[in-house]
Amino acid sequence: MLFDILPRALQLLLASSLWSPSPQSPPDTRLRFELRHEHALSNTSRVVFSDVAPSADFALGGSSIRAKRTTVHKPVSQALSGVRFRGGDLTWDTTEVDGPDVQDREALLLLAKIANNAYTASGAKDWYDIGPDWNNSYPFGWEPDADGFRGHVFATPDNSTVIVSVKGTSIFWPVGGGGPTQRKDKLNDNLLFSCCCARVGPTWSTVCGCYEGGYKCDQDCLEKSLAEESLFYSVGINLYNNVTYMYPNANIWMIGHSLGGALASLVGITFGVPVVAFEAPAERLAASRLHLPSPPSTHHVTHVYNTADPIPMGTCTGVSSTCAIVGVALETRCHLGQVIRYDTVTKLGWSANIIHHGIQAVVDGVLSRDDINWGEKDGENRTVPALTIEDDCVDCFNWEFGYYRNVSRAGCGNRIY
Ligand SMILES: *[C@@H]1O[C@H](CO)[C@@H](O)[C@H](O)[C@H]1NC(C)=O
Ligand SMILES: *[C@@H]1O[C@H](CO)[C@@H](O)[C@H](O)[C@H]1NC(C)=O
Ligand SMILES: *[C@@H]1O[C@H](CO)[C@@H](O)[C@H](O)[C@H]1NC(C)=O
Ligand SMILES: *[C@@H]1O[C@H](CO)[C@@H](O)[C@H](O)[C@H]1NC(C)=O
Ligand SMILES: *[C@@H]1O[C@H](CO)[C@@H](O)[C@H](O)[C@H]1NC(C)=O
Ligand SMILES: *[C@@H]1O[C@H](CO)[C@@H](O)[C@H](O)[C@H]1NC(C)=O
Repeated sequence: MLFDILPRALQLLLASSLWSPSPQSPPDTRLRFELRHEHALSNTSRVVFSDVAPSADFALGGSSIRAKRTTVHKPVSQALSGVRFRGGDLTWDTTEVDGPDVQDREALLLLAKIANNAYTASGAKDWYDIGPDWNNSYPFGWEPDADGFRGHVFATPDNSTVIVSVKGTSIFWPVGGGGPTQRKDKLNDNLLFSCCCARVGPTWSTVCGCYEGGYKCDQDCLEKSLAEESLFYSVGINLYNNVTYMYPNANIWMIGHSLGGALASLVGITFGVPVVAFEAPAERLAASRLHLPSPPSTHHVTHVYNTADPIPMGTCTGVSSTCAIVGVALETRCHLGQVIRYDTVTKLGWSANIIHHGIQAVVDGVLSRDDINWGEKDGENRTVPALTIEDDCVDCFNWEFGYYRNVSRAGCGNRIY
């Protein structure tokens, strides 16, 4: 054997460089997750949890997810809301954590399955609230499955890494009558993901009165409407805080599908945790309207979507679109973080249609398949498209935003983003 005839010192050198994993990046870290809790929203918009029996293995079949060292930026100051509304700079603490290896097809597939599980109905459960008085068995008379944000909490056996999955609201599958939070969810979706209060056309009743005529929209008015009504974001903050309360030392990953993915991203940017969002509407504008602090980089957030899905593409617009029919305007198209864009239109011949929005379409049609070449890398076929960023993207390019209603800022009526 070649190795045996090398001088001893060289053997040692080779052994140390080849086989001792560098502390910075273990060569192949795989994490196995167990389902621990479900989370949902009560009818008073509080985050509630229910425990899942330890034996329940939730469609993961004991599989593990390949992890990769990921740089994240965590705000040092706790005074986040102060910074959001009064302005000022946050100090960021840059560290490395184990995040999902988003260039590994099987890791994405498992995460998408977890995101899909967030849609599965649960039976009668004892829900509890991690509120001021954490009562362990808190029966909610109301079934929180119908709508609103809901999902699961997974953890590794040693509780060191926790995945919080969030499903979207049920707006695109209007079954079962909605429930009390749906109207409010819809209002928030329209504030965050439309250009100007969901003014899709002259016949639409808008969700806020910021329209100034002729594709002009008042910025102060928009931001004020959001500050007052942002149920969406505050639900995400509460969820994250409650999970960190249960797992104080864990490295948390946020994942989600559709609006749940957008929520996961906004929370992940706020707290500096790895995020994988599937088929999420573009949230860059929402982050700016919500005055989220901007970390030095948002690359710990990864968006995964396909080009035949009109929602992340920002093409579900106009009065006759599917989105307009269910009463939402999702008009934004610029995502934060890194993007893995599956060109299913070119590679698979899919046509742009809302049926390609469902997480099942992504699991079965895209991620389960290892026979599609999504591009080339070093002469080899890619099973996952390359990571890109949408930095030359412009949202709402036909709109002008300005401070039209503030006399002392007159002349600021120009396009501000
Ligand atoms: C959990 O979330 C609720 C809101 O749903 C919040 O009032 C409570 O303070 C949170 N608990 C902890 C420990 O963060
Ligand atoms: C929690 O339990 C205590 C007593 O066990 C009770 O007084 C309190 O009302 C309960 N809180 C909620 C929110 O149900
Ligand atoms: C929420 O659900 C509880 C329990 O079913 C019910 O008593 C209460 O009236 C509901 N509140 C609202 C605002 O619907
Ligand atoms: C992990 O957290 C759960 C609570 O969800 C706790 O019951 C369990 O003892 C913890 N396990 C370890 C190894 O810390
Ligand atoms: C790479 O993809 C092309 C199609 O783009 C296919 O013809 C070829 O067989 C693939 N090569 C390998 C090694 O899978
Ligand atoms: C108008 O803009 C000025 C300067 O930014 C600001 O101080 C003031 O509060 C604004 N007035 C209103 C009514 O929003």
